Amino acid sequence: MPDPSLLQAQLSHLQTLQARYDHILEAHGYDAVLISSGAAPLRYADDQSHHHQGFGPFLHWTGLVGIEHSWLLVRAGYKPQLWLHTPVDFWHASPSLPTEPWAAVMALHTCEQTDAPVVSGVGRLAVVGDPAQVHKVPGDQNPVALVQALDAARVHKTHYELACIDHANAAAAPGHLAAREAFLAGGSEFEISLAYQRATGQREADAPYHSIIGLNHHAGTLHYQHYEVPPPSVSRSLLIDAGYRYRGYCSDITRTTAAPGEGHFQALIDGVQQLQRRLCDAVAPGVAYADLHDKAHQGLAALLTASGLVTGLEDDAVVAEGISRAFFPHGLGHLLGIQVHDVAGKPYPSPEHAPFLRLTHTLEPGMVLTIEPGLYFIPSLLEPLMAGPLKGHINAALIEALQGCGGIRIEDNVAVTNTGARNLTRAHLPA
Ligand code: GLY
Ligand code: MN
Ligand code: MN
Repeated sequence: MPDPSLLQAQLSHLQTLQARYDHILEAHGYDAVLISSGAAPLRYADDQSHHHQGFGPFLHWTGLVGIEHSWLLVRAGYKPQLWLHTPVDFWHASPSLPTEPWAAVMALHTCEQTDAPVVSGVGRLAVVGDPAQVHKVPGDQNPVALVQALDAARVHKTHYELACIDHANAAAAPGHLAAREAFLAGGSEFEISLAYQRATGQREADAPYHSIIGLNHHAGTLHYQHYEVPPPSVSRSLLIDAGYRYRGYCSDITRTTAAPGEGHFQALIDGVQQLQRRLCDAVAPGVAYADLHDKAHQGLAALLTASGLVTGLEDDAVVAEGISRAFFPHGLGHLLGIQVHDVAGKPYPSPEHAPFLRLTHTLEPGMVLTIEPGLYFIPSLLEPLMAGPLKGHINAALIEALQGCGGIRIEDNVAVTNTGARNLTRAHLPA
């Protein structure tokens, strides 16, 4: 049973949502919006379905992860109405009506059919959700400007949402500790994934994303997607990027560990760690996130030189020549919430020099984001550098020595406060 104060905070979260929706509906000329929960599609030419987690706006109101074929009607001046799909089905478990306090502020119905409820007499109606569910539902389907406004309404988290993301961090922390222990005991990627799931008590399909668990050179594939079952003959490094979902809300945490004896790689981890902490400390209202991304490149340039990976260039030149980008090719981070890469992160396009940056806001209180600098040895990015005009500045021997460790990423979840920032990850997982 969740903490009563969390359940209380959820009620005020719903009041805030109602006020935001009232305002948005009016601004866009709608009287009501019908939100689909979504449903998992069947795999092509198969009778097995994908795993359903949920559609953002539906989870924003209900937190009901994994619910399918259900609908929520939001209308100014009325209680939200929830139709929960509760089929009589002896193949699958059918959901039961929620009994937590939040459900009491909604009008609840059960429905056996998968179709949308017939909604009439509500004025101008928008219907939002996966086109597979909403394409036949009367009303304006997924009007672009309205959907964008509903996405933007998820950017500033309520106290309830902050508490859920904090909990998602707390729950992931023992998983990261267990993963590290399993690595140091010589475990395989598969065994490390089991250790993570056992310690968090969450099956991987219910986590916000498939854990990224890379040993040795696999740590250099940014979103490495396999788990090797046999352990490697030598374990040099572990990169684990794994989260937890709590009441719909995600954590997204990465840690990198060097095996004992990998002194050079450990020194690089320490360097990325220091840089990452400095960047977390720099999060504050009024800071342009793209500037933090640029700061990360400056810091990385200094680290590349201090470690001897790059020689004979000023830090500015290491960045301007694209060298730091070859070692750190992704963006510094993204918004976090109901989705791991939460919506509405880019009010402006990414700068040309940072095409993968998913967050271009100037930071404001209530935003939650990740700070995740990295340093990787990715052959397809480093080989052209080592063969090009700058090769005299690149320490190919050191790269070769460290390539088998793959790469480093350190990732925390940070909430912007009125005066600065709160690191939601380090509170539970200090290192
Ligand atoms: N886990 C994916 C990411 O860090 O963005
Ligand atoms: Mn992330
Ligand atoms: Mn991550």
